Amino acid sequence: MNTVALWSLALVSFEHLTYEKWDTFGGWLREARRVMTGSKRVALLFAVAAIVLGIAAFVAMAVKDQSYVPSATYAPVNEPNRKVAVVYYSRSGHSEAVAREIARTFNAPIARISAEYPLDFSGQGKAVSDAADNTLLRIEVEPIDLGPARRVFLVSPTWMFRPATPLWAYVEQTDLTGKEVVLFTTGNSRFEQAEIDAFAKRIEAHGGRLVRHVFLRRGRIYWQMSREELLAAVGEEMKDLR
Ligand SMILES: Cc1cc2nc3c(=O)[nH]c(=O)nc-3n(C[C@H](O)[C@H](O)[C@H](O)COP(=O)(O)O)c2cc1C
Repeated sequence: MNTVALWSLALVSFEHLTYEKWDTFGGWLREARRVMTGSKRVALLFAVAAIVLGIAAFVAMAVKDQSYVPSATYAPVNEPNRKVAVVYYSRSGHSEAVAREIARTFNAPIARISAEYPLDFSGQGKAVSDAADNTLLRIEVEPIDLGPARRVFLVSPTWMFRPATPLWAYVEQTDLTGKEVVLFTTGNSRFEQAEIDAFAKRIEAHGGRLVRHVFLRRGRIYWQMSREELLAAVGEEMKDLR
């Protein structure tokens, strides 16, 4: 179904709700006002305000996730440190900033994974459904020689509580024999440890070993980390990884 059809369906459903359910909803409100005493009304008002604020924050977040946030470019100075390698996927730029900061710390080679998740609602929807059923799309990876690397940093956003699907796709096509893998994931709120354990198993299946997972919680829209705070958090985590 194309986007126009989906929007039409949404509008028709909304119209249906408006005409047919509005009376019922109004009735509920009138009944609630009749039976509720002063303090209960205040509590209801707070609950409704919290729900509205939550929905507004979610919509704002979804819209914000559609803009790409650039970070300072990075390239190794002179001869790169080939004992370390950084490979990352980033849809809207935050994990890219993190990956570049890690690579800069070690003067390491870096490679970007690309996958077809456009920065719009269709891309978001596809990211959610692929993450939910672990569909691995075709990816493209910038050239990088992992041969001499002892430690590989994998960096990606969190989608549906797990590393984004392009990173899973990367592991499936990569020989990680003898590599220590450090996984950095960025996210707004949380991840699930069971998903990280499953990711570690895929790394093991390809010869590597997940030695550490770092989750960088950027926060929701009303208390989100600034770019500087995000990079400072990377610096903190890197102290004992050097
Ligand atoms: C489809 C989708 C699903 C997401 N799921 C989660 C999640 O489960 N947990 C979380 O903390 N953040 C989640 N987020 C937020 C992203 O992980 C967060 O914005 C991330 O830093 C974006 O990284 P990027 O800019 O490198 O793409 C999700 C974002 C999108 C677009």
